[in-house]
Amino acid sequence: MKKITLGEVPLVVPVPIVLVGSYVDGRANFAEVGDVAIAGIKPALVMVSLAENHHTMCGIRAAKVFSVNIPSTTMLDRVDACGMVSGRVADKSAWFDVVDSGRLDVPLIRECPVNLACELLREVQVEHRCVLVAKVVECQVDEMLLEDDGGRRAIKDLQAFDPILYGLDNRYYRIGDPIGEGYNEGGKICANPVG
Ligand SMILES: Cc1cc2nc3c(=O)[nH]c(=O)nc-3n(C[C@H](O)[C@H](O)[C@H](O)COP(=O)(O)O)c2cc1C
Repeated sequence: MKKITLGEVPLVVPVPIVLVGSYVDGRANFAEVGDVAIAGIKPALVMVSLAENHHTMCGIRAAKVFSVNIPSTTMLDRVDACGMVSGRVADKSAWFDVVDSGRLDVPLIRECPVNLACELLREVQVEHRCVLVAKVVECQVDEMLLEDDGGRRAIKDLQAFDPILYGLDNRYYRIGDPIGEGYNEGGKICANPVG
């Protein structure tokens, strides 16, 4: 198949959509963010990239903490609205059941099946973007999504979680069927997988 060069496009798709939360002047605020990634499992690290003029950034810069809330597709209208309007002009906290993390002074959205309370470790500014590297201090998950995985509690059924995915085609998607297992499928190719 012939390749077409698109130039400088960060075409890593799809991405999960999250709501990044912070308290700004005492009020919870949430920005929709697609520029999010795991930066490590142990230590537990995440990266998010926000435009520096976002209201949410004011709270993050002041407190050096933020939350990452992972919504389900049932929340799509409220999630998209968080990407359409700034906390400077709307009280987005009124759209959600907001609770405090307990561990850090960050707002969590109760309706989101997964909530991460994060401590800011580094901020790298690239032009107008702030790339934030943070340690996950606490991860909360809806009990009904968790299963025992050999003594470790984990989300086994991502379709029940039903996170929102996003493509650079400006469309939202949902997750499909599982197709295989990590550190297993490759065994058909290499006889002695080392992990
Ligand atoms: C699908 C979608 C994805 C978005 N992803 C990001 C992102 O990764 N980083 C970012 O800074 N803004 C992103 N935005 C824009 C912000 O969510 C939006 O500007 C928001 O109003 C900022 O809110 P705030 O000013 O209350 O912080 C996205 C918006 C949409 C609709």
